[in-house]
Amino acid sequence: MKYHIVTYGCQMNLHESEKIAGVLKECGYAEEAPAEEADIIVFNTCCIRENAENHAFGNIGALKQLKRQKKDLLIAVGGCMVQEEGKAAILREKFPFIDILFGTHNLPELRSLIERKRKQRKAVVSVPAERAETEDRLVPVRTSFPNAWVNIMYGCNNFCSYCIVPYVRGRERSRSAEEVLREVRSLVAEGYREITLLGQNVNSYRDGDVDFPALLDMVASVEGKFRVRFMTSHPKDFSAELVAVMKKHPKICNHLHLPVQSGSSRILSLMNRRYTREKYLEEIALLRREIPDCEVTTDLIVAFPTETEEEFGETLSLVEEADFSSAFTFIYSPRTGTRAAAMEGRIPEDVAKSRITRLIALVNEKTREKSAKYVGKTVEILCEDYDEKRGMYLGRDEYGRMGYFKSDTPKIGEWIELYVKEANGISLYGEPVE
Ligand code: 5AD
Ligand code: SF4
Repeated sequence: MKYHIVTYGCQMNLHESEKIAGVLKECGYAEEAPAEEADIIVFNTCCIRENAENHAFGNIGALKQLKRQKKDLLIAVGGCMVQEEGKAAILREKFPFIDILFGTHNLPELRSLIERKRKQRKAVVSVPAERAETEDRLVPVRTSFPNAWVNIMYGCNNFCSYCIVPYVRGRERSRSAEEVLREVRSLVAEGYREITLLGQNVNSYRDGDVDFPALLDMVASVEGKFRVRFMTSHPKDFSAELVAVMKKHPKICNHLHLPVQSGSSRILSLMNRRYTREKYLEEIALLRREIPDCEVTTDLIVAFPTETEEEFGETLSLVEEADFSSAFTFIYSPRTGTRAAAMEGRIPEDVAKSRITRLIALVNEKTREKSAKYVGKTVEILCEDYDEKRGMYLGRDEYGRMGYFKSDTPKIGEWIELYVKEANGISLYGEPVE
């Protein structure tokens, strides 16, 4: 039997899909296949913005036909959207052909849900309000060699006013440091070359006396040639200790993804981010003083309720001042149940679109400027894939920039010294030097 998984959203979800694949294997679905050939199709959904939901709705709806032709096909829908208040009921009503619905807290039960469904005609649904259970015992089918994702914590307690994550992922739970280290050691021994520590808010990690900088220090002290990344960090928990650990270990990439969201302190306060523009800039200054070649990327939201043109201008000027290498940019999307959704002062769509267009143009210009500096230099990249269309191998440097090159021999998983001949946006093109 074969399976097909469709994943929406962040790296947390991508890694969760690897765990879903592990469960499917245990249930006898031995290999991955295109949707048309699969015996079970699983959607791992995201609800962070409205368009993520619309995408999933469209694609689930499109399966009605396939389900009609193939009576034994099972369709399972899981992830954040299912965990969202009232959404499971809407999904059942809109798509009565869904066989299994499971929330983010039900991954450990997925196997028994599948087994139950195989015995009955009726759909099985499992969406508890909140469970403290983690999915640590699930064995993932890893899909991202030579990178491996490792969860260090789940959930979020921050309640940024726009964000639905704390509602669907529940309160923070940290894994034990011992377990994290065991997993990292065995991944490095298996040949993984890049470890990405994952959490909604990694800086809140705590296991007894072990906080995030201490855990990072331990992970980077594991023997072997590999890189360490981590995401996502919250500026309110940024610390000198974190910078010190980054500086101490060459294994830790000199790249920090530090979502700022807005350049206006008034908007940041409305967002419940608990830092100001000035504090954020001080953090970046400290980081750059200690690690001069460190690159910083960020997330930015435009058109938060009541954002004025002037305040949007502060976001633009922050992009310059903080000297971001790149940024993910979003138009504010109201999420039912969050505090911001009840705020007055919604920004009209045309204004929001104009702001995001201007922001993207600026961010792209910064990215181009930074990448151009690499032309004529040699960077170390970790080869991670082959791009059929371009006929080139690709990999990332420690800052997250993509490097492309040609080779007649297989290179995935290898370290390549890339002499950069050309830069184009976020991508570099070059030749390996022996
Ligand atoms: N609207 C727009 N962007 C959002 N993000 C989170 N919630 C929303 C929302 N309601 C963005 C933030 C966060 C990233 C993962 O998604 O920038 O850092
Ligand atoms: Fe959402 Fe804020 Fe938690 Fe990030 S830190 S997941 S933006 S509530």
